[in-house]
Amino acid sequence: MDRLRDKVALITGAAQGIGLTVAQTFAREGATVIAADIKASDSKEFDVQQLDVSSPADWSRVVESVIAKHGRIDVLVNNAGIVYCYETLDGTDLDSWQKVLSVNLTGSFLGIQAVLPSMRGMRKGSIINFSSMWGIVGTAGAAAYAAAKGGVRNMTKNAAVTYAPENIRVNSVHPGLIRTPLVTSQPDDLNAEIIAKTPMGRMGTPEEVANVCLFLASDESSFMTGAELVIDGGYLAQ
Ligand SMILES: NC(=O)c1ccc[n+]([C@@H]2O[C@H](COP(=O)([O-])OP(=O)(O)OC[C@H]3O[C@@H](n4cnc5c(N)ncnc54)[C@H](O)[C@@H]3O)[C@@H](O)[C@H]2O)c1
Repeated sequence: MDRLRDKVALITGAAQGIGLTVAQTFAREGATVIAADIKASDSKEFDVQQLDVSSPADWSRVVESVIAKHGRIDVLVNNAGIVYCYETLDGTDLDSWQKVLSVNLTGSFLGIQAVLPSMRGMRKGSIINFSSMWGIVGTAGAAAYAAAKGGVRNMTKNAAVTYAPENIRVNSVHPGLIRTPLVTSQPDDLNAEIIAKTPMGRMGTPEEVANVCLFLASDESSFMTGAELVIDGGYLAQ
């Protein structure tokens, strides 16, 4: 129950889905959790902050307030993400492309920039970036999402190598199909098609992803940086 004792963890997109479960898991393991989301919340469970990850001004405000209140940030989970546009590349309009990249890719870039000064001061930190199995292999459709998640994957490795001498670890997670509001709002036939190709024959749960994040956030993974952890029921093993 204390794998994250004394750690301050900022989690984005934490109002629902995987982010909420990560926040609950981290709190159960002793972390001080700041649950940030673009959606306002009056949850009493965590220190809740309103944050649009694509806004540099929001990042400055939130990180300043966390440092003022808690003194530091040990863990950042860049979980906030959207699919938004399921179109093929030729069917994607520029506004949709930019929106998807601004949340999934630029949001993680801004988050890393915002927390680095605190982590540098301590010469320690763990950053977990949410990519996807679609950030590793191709699938038809959702072209902007695939581009953004592929970008997250390699931005993670770049940051990992850059900040390793300062003991700041940066890793990415790559979920397959996970039962969250994002997925249950997709057409059933789309989800069924992915499940049919998943060796374990089911969706994953937010808890199964949160447990991997717990490991990466904790000192148990202290020699891991630049890694990509796949949580997909075997989909990419084929
Ligand atoms: N569920 C899956 O199958 C799956 C698979 C692979 C990757 N992922 C990734 O996991 C992460 C979480 O996905 P989920 O399924 O829990 O999604 P979800 O839609 O259920 O929850 C996402 C949360 O992010 C918040 N959010 C959206 N835009 C934001 C912004 N600009 N700033 C701050 N918060 C914002 C939403 O309000 C929401 O609370 C995403 O990065 C997603 O791409 C999910």
